[in-house]
Amino acid sequence: MARGREFSALPSFAVEKQQWPGVGVTLALSESAVELRTTAGSLRMDNATGRWVLRDARARVVFEAAACGFEGPRPRLALVLRDGESIHGLGEMTGPLDRRGLVREFWNIDVLGHASCLHSGLRSSYVSIPFALNLHRGRAAGLFWDNPARQVWDMGHASPDRWSLRADSGEMDLYLFTGPRVPEIVERFTELTGRTPLPPRWALGYHQCRFGYTSRAEVERVAAEMRRRRFPCDALWLDIDHMDGHRVFTFGKRFPRPREMLAKLRRAGFRVVAIANPGVKNDPKFAVLRRGRALDAFVKDAGGRRDFVGKVWPGRSRFPDFLDVRVRRWWAREQAKFMRAGLDGIWCDMNEPALFDTPGKTLPGDCVHRPAEKTTATHAAVHNLYGQAMAAAAREGALLAKPRERPFVLTRAGYAGIQRHAAVWTGDNSSTWEHLAASVPALLNLGLSGVAFCGTDVGGFLDSPTPELFARWMQLGALMPFFRNHSNKDSRPQEPWEFGPEVERICRDAIRLRYRLRPYLEQCFTEAHERGWPVMRPLLFHFQDDAVAAACNDQFLLGAHLLVAPVLAPGVASRSVYLPRGRWRDVWSWRAFRGGRHILAPAPLDRVPLFVREGAGKSVAIRKLRV
Ligand code: GLC
Repeated sequence: MARGREFSALPSFAVEKQQWPGVGVTLALSESAVELRTTAGSLRMDNATGRWVLRDARARVVFEAAACGFEGPRPRLALVLRDGESIHGLGEMTGPLDRRGLVREFWNIDVLGHASCLHSGLRSSYVSIPFALNLHRGRAAGLFWDNPARQVWDMGHASPDRWSLRADSGEMDLYLFTGPRVPEIVERFTELTGRTPLPPRWALGYHQCRFGYTSRAEVERVAAEMRRRRFPCDALWLDIDHMDGHRVFTFGKRFPRPREMLAKLRRAGFRVVAIANPGVKNDPKFAVLRRGRALDAFVKDAGGRRDFVGKVWPGRSRFPDFLDVRVRRWWAREQAKFMRAGLDGIWCDMNEPALFDTPGKTLPGDCVHRPAEKTTATHAAVHNLYGQAMAAAAREGALLAKPRERPFVLTRAGYAGIQRHAAVWTGDNSSTWEHLAASVPALLNLGLSGVAFCGTDVGGFLDSPTPELFARWMQLGALMPFFRNHSNKDSRPQEPWEFGPEVERICRDAIRLRYRLRPYLEQCFTEAHERGWPVMRPLLFHFQDDAVAAACNDQFLLGAHLLVAPVLAPGVASRSVYLPRGRWRDVWSWRAFRGGRHILAPAPLDRVPLFVREGAGKSVAIRKLRV
């Protein structure tokens, strides 16, 4: 729905599949209403008020709009919420799995620019995916509003039975999914927005990162220690300290002879991923800046003629207009040149984009982009696409550098469809038990929003974990889709041997468990690639008729067969675990349990309660898990 007679020329950055087979539609027009009918259901809209009702094939109400239209330039919609209806998905979120009663603002932010840390009261995050999966009496439905401007969804907060959605500008480009099965909806949503490509095998291993390893010698020391202590580890990461004065795609003096360093690490079995931030240092001698200017590649200020200049890590910087396909191609070439030194992946950070010195801590809303030929857009209208478009360029660059390998890109910011371009990590968390626990619903909602390849900073980024917290985080991390230990400059060292011999042994076992599970994980990633299903799934994904399973915030399914009940609190020796219907085996004792009830599972520090679903025996990987 658009205001006026014309639709906007802004292409969708979310939708991958543009061509769909035709469907037979019957159109019934009366004086008061329009009704569209297909074999899947019907949509009836009242002419005078814009109110509409979507029904499924059996004429059951799926969504009912109490209001729909424009308030000045702002599209808005109000839906009726029913008793017991829960709301999930919504991309990257803090707080519980069910978002009903809360407000979500889709506006990508660098959380630390706005709050002291991630917390459950936050309305915005680094990634915006305006997609919801609702569950009501065991039946699911989905809604996606493709509009990259700021959107605010009040989901029963101001009024318990009303879900109000509004955007600052743009159109009402709605996709409604009648369900009623959860997997079907995720499958369909990812058919529309694209699926996670198969990652390189090494990317499913353990990753070691830190802000920052400040010299080549330090990276080599960590690598040597990893091997000496017999930790399986596939990747080491370079944060911003590898650069020359924070100039993107460079190595500074403390990283001499990078080719030699990377070749040596490769021989020791490490892949290396380096960070790339969008801000290009405004240094007239800097070759990347010069080439970018020659191409007129940067976002313009409000007048539309001069490049906008703002501050971020390198100091004053210009910002590539990734929405422009020519700029993405250029960036891909720059990145490929850099990667040819021997890098295996790229980590896109600060791509909300985050700025240090503007009032909104991002590009001003009146800056100008060029998303398509002869089409301009204000930054405010396309803000949530910036990180996504950078990640798309990064994937293209990785493919250019290594055309025969599966690319690996990690991103902090994104929009619906980000899974086509990159894995996502949830940004700057803290080393607290609350943030460990919050990792679970955050990753589950991301998974329901199409992002199968995701993880949190293991051990916590800000502050320092206690040995116990670190051990528990490594145990959870080993069962997350993306498994990277990362910490901040002023955190204490967080390599897995830094917490004493007992925790070192526990961490090694946790990592080894992941490697034993890797064939199974690969099956899960194949499912993500082929059907869009999350790797880490809420219980409701397979047990949507079970109200206890649907409300579960602190357990998850890894693929269809493995149930994980991580320990998320200190001082725990056992924990209560809900087993949904069916028969389950405790992976450690091989004891069998009938599901549909809670049990108490032993959870000493060296063990994470893990259950395998009966019937999974065919999976070789699972059988091997038996100890
Ligand atoms: C941002 C990132 C963090 C990184 C740091 C320095 O805070 O979220 O992961 O270590 O910047 O580059």
